[in-house]
Amino acid sequence: MTIDIAVVPVAGLGTRLLPATKSQPKEMLPVGRKPVAQHVVDELAGSGIRRLLFITGKGKHSIENHFDIDGELVAYLRETGRERELAELDFERQDLEFFYTRQRRQLGLGHAVLCARPLVGDQPFVVALGDSIIGINAQSDIVRRMIETFEASRADVVVAFEEVPREEVFRYGIAQPRGPVDDVFELERLVEKPEIADAPSNLAVAARYVFSPVIFDKLVETQPGKGGEIQLTDAIQLVLESGGKGLGLRLRSHERRFDIGNFESYFRAFFEFALADAKFGPRLQQFVRTLLPTCKLSASQDSPAQA
Ligand code: G1P
Repeated sequence: MTIDIAVVPVAGLGTRLLPATKSQPKEMLPVGRKPVAQHVVDELAGSGIRRLLFITGKGKHSIENHFDIDGELVAYLRETGRERELAELDFERQDLEFFYTRQRRQLGLGHAVLCARPLVGDQPFVVALGDSIIGINAQSDIVRRMIETFEASRADVVVAFEEVPREEVFRYGIAQPRGPVDDVFELERLVEKPEIADAPSNLAVAARYVFSPVIFDKLVETQPGKGGEIQLTDAIQLVLESGGKGLGLRLRSHERRFDIGNFESYFRAFFEFALADAKFGPRLQQFVRTLLPTCKLSASQDSPAQA
C-alpha cells in the first residue's frame, strides 16, 4: 500500500458544543475512555496510515500535547509502580509521525484541506475529519478499503458514504450515484447540504476521503458555497465536472459514523462506547437499567433538546 499520509482537519470552533468546547477542542472530548482524536488516530493507524497532518487552529494545543511523548509522566508512573496506567500510554509509542499546521482563517473545510498542500505536495492522501469516529473502538478498516479501491481503479476521489434518514440529508454532503449502488459505486455528482426535496439520494458523505493531489487545484478554484464557506464537497464536484473519476464506498453495518459535532450525537456516542467498555460496560448497563424508569420523569421537566 502506498498511501500512508492522512490530513486531519481539527480547526472547527465547535460552537454547537458550547460551553463544553469554550476552552477545549471538541476533538479532545472523551468518548468512552479516549478523546475523539485518539479514536481517529487509532482507526487510521489500523488502516496503514503512518503520517498524520493535523490542520489546527486557535485553542487546539491540547491535541498536540496528547500525542507527544510525556517522559515526565512515564517516569512518574514507572517510579510509583503503576504499570496498568503506564500501559494506557502505549499509544504514544506507536510508529507514527505527527505534523501540525494552522488554518489561520476560518474559511471552511475545503480551505482547511488546502492548508495541507505545502506539506502533502504531489502525492495522493487521505482526509479524515477529526470530529467523526467510525465504528466502535477503531474496528473499521474503511480507509484501507478506500485506499485499495483508489489505487486499483485509478480514481481521483474516493469518498465514504453512509445512508441517513431522508429528513437528515440537509446536514451532509449527498451523492448522486451513477448506475447501481453497491458497496462501491460511481459518483455522478455531489451536493453539499441540499434541501430535503432536492437531495439526489440519502447517501451522506461520512467524513473519510482519499484524494489525488488534483483536489488542491480544484480547491484553489472553489468559490464560497454553503454557509459562505469554501466547501470540500464543491471541490470534489469540480473534479467530477472536469472528467475526474469519483467513487463512493459504503460503510458496513458495524462501521457507523459517530459525529461529535453536536450534543445529541456526542451523548449517543459516549453512551455507546461506555456501554461497550470491556471492564465498565456490564455494570454500567445494569446501572442504566435502574436509572431509566426514573429519568423519564426528570427529562420531561427539562427544556426541549437543542439541535
Ligand atoms: C462536513 C462536510 C459534509 C459531510 C460531513 C460529515 O460537514 O462538509 O459534506 O457530510 O462533514 O462527514 P460538517 O459536519 O463539517 O458541517
